[in-house]
Amino acid sequence: MNQSVPRSTWTSHWAFILVTIGSAVGLGNIWKFSYLAGANGGSAFVLVYLCFVALIGLPLLMAEILIGRRGRGNPVSAMLKTAEESGNSPWWALLGWVGALGALAILSFYSVVAGWIADYLCQAVMGVQVDTPEKAAQGFSNLKDNPLRTGFWHTVFMVLTVWVVARGVVRGIETANKIMMPLLFLILLLLAVWGAKVGNMPMAMHFMFDFKAEALTPGVVLAAMGHAFFSLSLGMGAIMAYGSYLDRETSIGSTSLWVVAANVVIGLLSGMAIFSLTFGYGLSPSSGPGLILQALPLAFSHMPFGQIFSVLFFLFVLFAAWTSSISLMEPFVSWLTERCGMRRARAAWGTCVPVWLLGLAVCLSSSSVAGFKVFGYDLLDGLDQLTNRIMMPLSGLAIAVYVGWMLGRPIVADEAGLKGRAFSLWFNVLRYIVPIGITLVFLGLLIGLDKSIA
Ligand code: PHE
Repeated sequence: MNQSVPRSTWTSHWAFILVTIGSAVGLGNIWKFSYLAGANGGSAFVLVYLCFVALIGLPLLMAEILIGRRGRGNPVSAMLKTAEESGNSPWWALLGWVGALGALAILSFYSVVAGWIADYLCQAVMGVQVDTPEKAAQGFSNLKDNPLRTGFWHTVFMVLTVWVVARGVVRGIETANKIMMPLLFLILLLLAVWGAKVGNMPMAMHFMFDFKAEALTPGVVLAAMGHAFFSLSLGMGAIMAYGSYLDRETSIGSTSLWVVAANVVIGLLSGMAIFSLTFGYGLSPSSGPGLILQALPLAFSHMPFGQIFSVLFFLFVLFAAWTSSISLMEPFVSWLTERCGMRRARAAWGTCVPVWLLGLAVCLSSSSVAGFKVFGYDLLDGLDQLTNRIMMPLSGLAIAVYVGWMLGRPIVADEAGLKGRAFSLWFNVLRYIVPIGITLVFLGLLIGLDKSIA
């Protein structure tokens, strides 16, 4: 292990909360949440998702932060060090590898989707109008079918991501989050208020929260569970990497509660704004991955101050994506700097190259002109499914087993800093509920129960 690089620490526990919220809140909460909820019966999906966030997400988030902080290193070395301390096999470090590499696989398509958002932001700034549903659909497929255009924006987004990561943990990641997250929250509040004013908020609330038992199918349950992982950045080393820069005095329990609460509030508020506008302008919520790129520009073209709000909206999504993409890159970059003694900037640019190339392949694969398929999937869909359906649940399961059963109660209790009943409650949920829950999701995903969510 190269010890010459001193480890950074977040400047305060609020900084840690902010960057972790920054990682959690991303395309998942806005792009994915709205189209998944739209395609999966609204409230059934939303309410089940909330249960899984509380029952599986929160305990796992705490477990990941705990490993990172105890191991004080990148995900691979944090796993190695904690395994060594607790007398477990060094093979557990594989979990760190799955996380760091899985995060890069996510980054490759995440950056392409963030690139679509950047393209729409540009159109919004230029005042492009889409006045009919046909034009909206055409606009989206024109973009996807042009790999030069999607490749260009993907490149821009990757450069932005590398730029922040290369500047370092505090100077880059913390500063970027301190600037973008408050702005993001402010824009979201504006959008939600305006959405309520010009859209149809009662219908949005009804769609999202009126529980309809008949909509609760196994597919919806499984989609909601998978989304709980994705939206909280679980199982991919990102939270472990961020946790490794956390000082020992900060309480893992209360910081995690803040992160989960903010993630849920931001997700629900953006869902309310999006659906209020979607319904307010008579559009369908179930149009799939293009929902925010088709329905919303149409709504913006018809509403008062539409151009201003469309610029704000796409800026909001872009900020959210950017603060998440840096956390997808950090696990591998911190491994390169700590394990191979590379300089941060070089490590970040070096990591970017393969991810960028894979992203270019995603752009080609998504276009109907150059489109190619891998095992019947287009690459974006394939990578999304591989990471969401297989890597995240498996890795989450392994983390629950590792912290719940392998590390040993004394180490876990010492590091978690929770007292009495709170500790027992969390520890038991982690030992029993989380592994059983994830096993059920995983089995369900394997046997294809969630075909409905495609
Ligand atoms: N949580 C992010 C989102 O909702 C995605 C992400 C997944 C980020 C895994 C880091 C690790 O968009």
